[in-house]
Amino acid sequence: MSMQIITDPNRFQEQALKLRCQGKVTGLVPTMGYFHEGHLRLMRWARENADTVLVSLFVNPTQFGPGEDLTSYPRDMERDKELAALEGVDILFAPSSEAMYEPGFSTRVQVPALSRTLCGESRPGHFEGVATVVAKLLVLSLPVVAVFGEKDWQQLALIRRMVRDLNLPVAVHGHPIVREEDGLAMSSRNAYLTPDQRAQAPAIHQGLVRTRDIAEQGERDCRALLDFFSSWIKEQLPLGSLEYAAIVHPQTLEPLTELEDEGLLAVAVRLGRARLIDNIVCR
Ligand code: PAF
Repeated sequence: MSMQIITDPNRFQEQALKLRCQGKVTGLVPTMGYFHEGHLRLMRWARENADTVLVSLFVNPTQFGPGEDLTSYPRDMERDKELAALEGVDILFAPSSEAMYEPGFSTRVQVPALSRTLCGESRPGHFEGVATVVAKLLVLSLPVVAVFGEKDWQQLALIRRMVRDLNLPVAVHGHPIVREEDGLAMSSRNAYLTPDQRAQAPAIHQGLVRTRDIAEQGERDCRALLDFFSSWIKEQLPLGSLEYAAIVHPQTLEPLTELEDEGLLAVAVRLGRARLIDNIVCR
């Protein structure tokens, strides 16, 4: 079957409903496009675990704050269409902003307990935009399973919470972070990096791995671990600056002072025009 491209939300919902009524296991991969290997792996996972693969491609304006990169966010629709077709995607849903947000649109989905910390501190309103659009995409596509990358761990935790709280009939699958050979987490925003910045960027993942190793060797004090990580970034990434580094409970995102069982070390680094996030589980 060749890939269908649908731009009208109502048509997409009709098709998705039909598939679900036929008993098909449908898998949704929500994206903002400009596909890289990370997106393609999510599509491959969906291809292997679902009968029908639905991919949404929508640069959602409501999750960008004033002064953020909405207008410059990288886009390449023609290339994305080709890549999605090569991955065996069945339906590519690529709506316009006007179709997703009709005049008078006023509903907002909030998950306050998971939105205020980490990235939420410097991006007020971001997670409300994410939760609202993901709720819409889930209701439009009614998938059996939806796949999200673990790089955006906070986003994934919040979507899991929202799905549970609203009894949405979908299984949420978190896919492990896909990395470049040198360890940099794949992201569409890596395209913003100059060659010098790109050369230093792997220091983020290296710092995470070293910090996790120190935890595994017995350092359980989160302050000491975070101090190590911030000194590492200062030394190894002079072109960048650390926006935050925190060790939190992996599901509730509450900050931890001592590592008992496991904690998530989550970080955001500013490097030139890019804001890069990454994380690692410390045990
Ligand atoms: O992770 C993303 O690409 C976006 O935040 C998402 C989930 C597609 C919602 O716009």
